Amino acid sequence: MTAPHTPVLLDEVIQALAPGPGDVIVDATFGAGGYTRAILDRGAIVHAFDRDPDAIAAGETWPEARQAPPRLVLHPHRFSRMVAALAEAGVRRVAGVAMDIGVSSMQLDRPERGFAFSADGPLDMTMSQSGPTAANFLNEAPEAEIADVLFHFGEERQSRRVARAIVAARPLSTTRELAEVVRKALGHRPGAPKDPATRSFQAIRIHVNGELDELQNGLNAAEQILAAGGRLAVVSFHSLEDRIVKRFLREATGATARASRHLPEARAASAPTFENLSKAIRPTDAETLRNPRARSATLRVAVRTSAPAREAA
Ligand SMILES: C[S@@+](CC[C@H](N)C(=O)[O-])C[C@H]1O[C@@H](n2cnc3c(N)ncnc32)[C@H](O)[C@@H]1O
Repeated sequence: MTAPHTPVLLDEVIQALAPGPGDVIVDATFGAGGYTRAILDRGAIVHAFDRDPDAIAAGETWPEARQAPPRLVLHPHRFSRMVAALAEAGVRRVAGVAMDIGVSSMQLDRPERGFAFSADGPLDMTMSQSGPTAANFLNEAPEAEIADVLFHFGEERQSRRVARAIVAARPLSTTRELAEVVRKALGHRPGAPKDPATRSFQAIRIHVNGELDELQNGLNAAEQILAAGGRLAVVSFHSLEDRIVKRFLREATGATARASRHLPEARAASAPTFENLSKAIRPTDAETLRNPRARSATLRVAVRTSAPAREAA
């Protein structure tokens, strides 16, 4: 049994969404349902997404998913598909969207999911438990592509060295093998404070799940589905993600014009689609003490205006 996922910045997210009875709220990343639980407890209706069938199956057992009509509707989809999936369920506008990006403790702590460098398991790392795995990528991609992934998504400065070692060690099939190859390539001394495999595992996970494209497309989808006055709350866990959220909200609030392939420059600066952008909200010391995984979390919040959604760039 693994420890359940502890929701991060829960009070801050709920305060930002301010869900009320009958409001329709999207939880784009259901996980163990920590946010959903708190939103349901305030009388709102939740449409929850998760690409992991295990998370959806656990949600289906909740009483709110079984009552008629349900107050919890689960969508086994990527959140980038939220607009079409909600339309199918007859939902065209919502009062709030919460996104809590990344992997859950259930995914990280179960070695058989292949996310953990500190335990042994198959080199899988797919959130959806389908499609190409980390092993497929590492055993088949050209060395230069692996190096690019490690550099861009893991900010691994020695990306070429690590990629060369991975290619030399093929075929790789377990997380332990991969962790050892990376540590050896980087000359890791046992007992050194930070395991150098952290960066490579992060990079490969982001690549295998297309996480940064998903985040960008999910933000665009939230812009389309939120009603005027609706709230967007996004929690991210590292600078690559936060940069995307920050830039999206800066452009959406009109602080900078968004470049568009489709529109001439003068028309690209459209009316702001979001307002009341918060500063970055970080966990309190008490929360990080209680839940070390909250340490790197950043929450950004904004309110949808009545301006039409922008065309996705
Ligand atoms: C950090 S956890 C969410 C935890 C949740 N807030 C809670 O309190 O239990 C992230 C979840 O989002 C899911 N996820 C990540 N990216 C996704 C995407 N693009 N589409 C759908 N689900 C996604 C993961 O499978 C994981 O279950």
